[in-house]
Amino acid sequence: MKKVELKTLTENFVEAIGKEWMLVTAGSKEGFNTMTASWGGIGFLWNKPVAFVFVRPERYTNEFIEKADYLTLSFLGTENKQIHAVCGSKSGRDIDKVKETGLKPLFTPQGNVSFEQARLTLECKKLYVSDITADSFIDKSLIDKWYGGSHGNFHKVYIVEITDVWEEE
Ligand SMILES: Cc1cc2nc3c(=O)[nH]c(=O)nc-3n(C[C@H](O)[C@H](O)[C@H](O)COP(=O)(O)O)c2cc1C
Repeated sequence: MKKVELKTLTENFVEAIGKEWMLVTAGSKEGFNTMTASWGGIGFLWNKPVAFVFVRPERYTNEFIEKADYLTLSFLGTENKQIHAVCGSKSGRDIDKVKETGLKPLFTPQGNVSFEQARLTLECKKLYVSDITADSFIDKSLIDKWYGGSHGNFHKVYIVEITDVWEEE
């Protein structure tokens, strides 16, 4: 991976996150977990370049995010949907996602985790976490739509500072 300046990116992140999807990964060489995510954003807050990630607390990945200071967002291109199919439907509690998918971990100088398959990785430092709550919805129809039935718990919102950007060589 080679380091690039964030300002050189010309990504359409609405498309990249929403259609290509990304892997949210936290942990280190000693142990990490990764999951597919298609909700999130990139922006500018507190005079820093930031990303917003939405993670349901029951995800195994959330345990790693909670313990870590950093997480990474890895974009694998559209050719790796099979990896996303596994990482987005199976839990690291039950399977070894690296073994199952052929993901090849790479470690940044800071010790954070990305993958050889990633065309782009955002290395991010946690700044803020909060829970989505029913009370805060202005459009209450979203509650039933996304948190009713078997959907799962309200997401945790992580706001993270994009500290380094990596592209495949
Ligand atoms: C396309 C797609 C997008 C997803 N986006 C999110 C997301 O933004 N937030 C989230 O908490 N789960 C999301 N998931 C679900 C998790 O990836 C899934 O529950 C995964 O198995 C969790 O793995 P873990 O328990 O090893 O962390 C998504 C799944 C798919 C297939």
